[in-house]
Amino acid sequence: METRPQGGRKGPPPRDVPPVVGLLLSMALMNALLYLCLDWLFISPRRSTEDPTRCPYGHFRMGPTSNCSPWLSCEQLRTEVRQMKRVGEGAVKRVFLSEWKERKVALSRLTRLEVRDDFLHGLRMLKSLQSEHVVTLLGYCEADNSILTEYHPLGSLSSLEATLNLSKYRSTNTWQHRLQLALGYVAIIDFLHRSPLGTLVMCDSSDLPKTLSQYLLTANFSIVLNDLDALPLVNRSTGALVKCGHRELRGDFVAPEQLWPYGEDVPFHDDLMPAYDEKIDIWKIPDVSSFLLGHVEGSDMVRFHLFDIHKACKSQTPAERPTAQDVLDTYQKVLNLLRDTATSQTREML
Ligand SMILES: Nc1ncnc2c1ncn2[C@@H]1O[C@H](COP(=O)(O)OP(=O)(O)O)[C@@H](O)[C@H]1O
Ligand SMILES: *[C@@H]1O[C@H](CO)[C@@H](O)[C@H](O)[C@H]1NC(C)=O
Ligand SMILES: *[C@@H]1O[C@H](CO)[C@@H](O)[C@H](O)[C@H]1NC(C)=O
Ligand SMILES: *[C@@H]1O[C@H](CO)[C@@H](O)[C@H](O)[C@H]1NC(C)=O
Ligand SMILES: [Mg+2]
Repeated sequence: METRPQGGRKGPPPRDVPPVVGLLLSMALMNALLYLCLDWLFISPRRSTEDPTRCPYGHFRMGPTSNCSPWLSCEQLRTEVRQMKRVGEGAVKRVFLSEWKERKVALSRLTRLEVRDDFLHGLRMLKSLQSEHVVTLLGYCEADNSILTEYHPLGSLSSLEATLNLSKYRSTNTWQHRLQLALGYVAIIDFLHRSPLGTLVMCDSSDLPKTLSQYLLTANFSIVLNDLDALPLVNRSTGALVKCGHRELRGDFVAPEQLWPYGEDVPFHDDLMPAYDEKIDIWKIPDVSSFLLGHVEGSDMVRFHLFDIHKACKSQTPAERPTAQDVLDTYQKVLNLLRDTATSQTREML
């Protein structure tokens, strides 16, 4: 309960304010205004969903300087895209490095008709969730079960260690860059949980390798979500929860509420399996982040600073876990703190 002091109505009538107090008051007011403006200037733009460089719905742009073009049609996909070599495959899509107008692009094809619903769900999500956090859609053809997206030569997060081990990228293999990646990952989870469509749960993540394969590393070392085939919606107002698939999940990568709760003696039955919410994604953050932080100089220092928030992510009770936004804020604070410390240490050395 909040108790507010009762307002000044009953108090004595206002007296003349001495000029000094007036001056001080107006200075305080100016300060507050200035603070609000700075806050708006430096914090809001990053949080804002309105990005002037983004194209309107149904359009894409390949580079920051090019114009917006409409998504390619079936006809264009069939005649203008040249399929080259296979670069990846999952349960739903087979992905080919391809060429369109002398640019490298990624053409995804449905692997088998039984999973067409997942494929179409993924396409619908891709269309609705285009943003800095999601791979850029270039076109699609439902009749041919094909999707064209931006190609990312560094591939998925599964090959992060191998990529950072290449001589070309070795200088990037620092705790700063790796913490930045973890920040990007949590920003994607936060984006899904507060998406334009509502609270979406990243279901395609029943183990670490599988989870990593759903995200791509961009050439400028940011992370984008690529596989959106399993993003069910939690509806707070109707209390509708989700289940990730119809099969029994095991292991401790998945959240405890995703495990069969009735013991070995009762055989698993999907109808009896309780549903859950987006807090399953929070449970997985420490494991994914720890992978992203890796084992370079400074990784353990970062882990130490993230210890408390990660411990909270691993609460057995879903409701006690922080939100993705809380985790993101903490990561940002730790990054700022460690950056400042590193800078002042460098200054001392000079
Ligand atoms: N745009 C892309 N650029 C580069 N590699 C990609 C791209 N899209 C997918 N891949 C590769 O293909 C793999 C499978 O893609 P994904 O969309 O996860 O398929 P599935 O839905 O079958 O799991 C990814 O893990 C990645 O290695
Ligand atoms: C990194 O590269 C070195 C040689 O350059 C190799 O011995 C090592 O196995 C590589 N590690 C990974 C994780 O690829
Ligand atoms: C939740 O369900 C209600 C009732 O079906 C619906 O009106 C509302 O749009 C849903 N919310 C979301 C975010 O889908
Ligand atoms: C990195 O590239 C993505 C597109 O691949 C772009 O949206 C983003 O703004 C770039 N970030 C930086 C810091 O250049
Ligand atoms: Mg996948």
